[in-house]
Amino acid sequence: MNLRNKRVILGVTGSISAYKAVDLASQLMRAGACVDVVMTECAQRFIQPLTFQSITGRQVYTDMFTNDPGITLEQMQLAREADIVVVAPATANFVAKLAGGLADDFLSVLILATRAPLVIAPAMTSAMYENPQTQENLGRLRRRGVVEVPPEWGYLMGGYRGRGRLAANETIVDTLRQVLGRNGELSRVKIVVTAGGTREPVDRVHFLGSYAAGKMGFALAREARDQGADVTLIHTPTNLMPPVGVKQVEVNTAQEMLAAVRKALEGAGVLIMAADVADYRPARVETDKIREGEKASLALVRNPDILMEVKEPVVKVGFATESSNFKDAAALKLSRKGLDLIVARQLEGPYGEDADSSQVSIIAKDGSVTDLPLQSIERIAREVLRKVSVLLKPYPR
Ligand code: C5P
Repeated sequence: MNLRNKRVILGVTGSISAYKAVDLASQLMRAGACVDVVMTECAQRFIQPLTFQSITGRQVYTDMFTNDPGITLEQMQLAREADIVVVAPATANFVAKLAGGLADDFLSVLILATRAPLVIAPAMTSAMYENPQTQENLGRLRRRGVVEVPPEWGYLMGGYRGRGRLAANETIVDTLRQVLGRNGELSRVKIVVTAGGTREPVDRVHFLGSYAAGKMGFALAREARDQGADVTLIHTPTNLMPPVGVKQVEVNTAQEMLAAVRKALEGAGVLIMAADVADYRPARVETDKIREGEKASLALVRNPDILMEVKEPVVKVGFATESSNFKDAAALKLSRKGLDLIVARQLEGPYGEDADSSQVSIIAKDGSVTDLPLQSIERIAREVLRKVSVLLKPYPR
């Protein structure tokens, strides 16, 4: 969300993975950014400027030398107006060039001339990446505040496998969001978020679980991070993409989640419980698999209520999905659990996988109710965090 209307300069250098930068440009455009692409000469051996121009609808910069004074001025203006610069892919040669402070093509000149933060996503063979010279260059850049999106392990040029593959575009975009949000509204606030649904073991093979995949909690963690918060995300097993720059702790049961929350809350100002925590767990865990013909009933015992166990003076936010009179039921839960806010939702139809959008009401301790229209969980996350920051205002940071 924080990429909207931002001036992003996408530098593309000469790696076989240059073609992936086209999709990166497209993802940045879809996130609402204004993208200016700068290509090195080598990059143009792999891909045409026209491809980027068609995606961004803007001129692509390829040449430092031009006889058109208008364009020369425009080029220098780019350096001043940029909110962030990302080089993806960044070759070993270009990394070395940056580490040495060279400026012999338009991209390196621009990077030296801008005050905008710089993110680089290296792509090269694993031998080149692991080469002490490259590592030393990357270390120098990191010490200067450059953010590296490390390459991944996978297939490389010519069918070889190793570390050196350009990071996924989603990870690069998430890193840009993190860097842009560093000094946001919630910087210096530590926030603990829980996500997913707990798994309470029945025997060695089965558990009592929930349909919740954790999308709401992950969206909250990303959004809080985008506003500069120091976020710990405690979640149950999931396939969701890990948010860049967020500490993650994986748990299974409600008891494990409680222990993780207690630990993470040290120095924290906010606890947001978006996880679906099982109220009960099997009284005993069978050591083997329960077999056919054996007893068919489960004895259950109560799980601790995490929100009620937490006595720290933090802003506490709960979530409630209720089948009838959802606002009244949620308001009761808010006071019983001593919450500052509760996000209430009407349970309609069969409960399935987490939806990408939802219609919720946010109820506050003072009794005020904000009914939100049906909207994406990202927008809901922003609304919740907006209310959290208002509640944090009286506290000195
Ligand atoms: O399950 P219930 O509707 O009571 O959940 C309301 C809120 O309480 C949710 O935010 C949930 O994460 C939290 N909760 C908890 N510990 C439990 C059960 C629920 O903290 N054992």
